[in-house]
Amino acid sequence: MLNIIGLCGSLRKDSYNRKLLLTIQSLLSNKVQFEIVEIGDLPLFNQDIELNPPETVIAFRKKVGSADGILFATPEYNYSVSAVLKNAIEWGSRPYGKAVLNSKSAAVIGASTGMLGTSRAQYHLRQICVQVNIYMMNGPEVMVPFEAKKFDETGKLIDEATMEKLQKFTTAFMAWVEKMKP
Ligand SMILES: Cc1cc2nc3c(=O)[nH]c(=O)nc-3n(C[C@H](O)[C@H](O)[C@H](O)COP(=O)(O)O)c2cc1C
Repeated sequence: MLNIIGLCGSLRKDSYNRKLLLTIQSLLSNKVQFEIVEIGDLPLFNQDIELNPPETVIAFRKKVGSADGILFATPEYNYSVSAVLKNAIEWGSRPYGKAVLNSKSAAVIGASTGMLGTSRAQYHLRQICVQVNIYMMNGPEVMVPFEAKKFDETGKLIDEATMEKLQKFTTAFMAWVEKMKP
């Protein structure tokens, strides 16, 4: 059984990035356990409390620590990842030498209103993951532009091309996680 967690960089109730995560969840086999781990309640990272953090951080680190793979769904905020997602990564990257994100396999997807579909944010995230020593899957990439046209009012993905991409991505990501498993 693979244990995969999803981290969504948007806290918006109707977030398209969350919808992407839920679509991927629907594509997973029953040999995969998947949970979207909430990051909106994490306090702002403060190094003064990194060794003695509040319960929300302890719970977050525990879930990340026991995951076989991490699926990031990032919006693009001002050409980068959201502060919310970066904050979660900060918590997972400390304390030095004991980071729960260290050596995790991961992949990234993203949806945005613009035509580049979070490509700038995804490349920022990849850069961040180098420092954190996360093993990011190189491809296939999933960048969903003009997101509002891809889902119906109920949140269901209705764009066939995007669905095909997500299917290929999901298969590749599961293989990546298996391959990188210690
Ligand atoms: C603070 C902020 C900055 C944004 N910056 C960008 C941007 O740089 N590029 C882009 O394509 N969209 C940008 N957007 C639009 C987001 O792509 C859009 O709001 C998207 O739906 C957010 O993802 P979500 O649906 O998961 O919340 C920005 C939105 C916000 C709120």
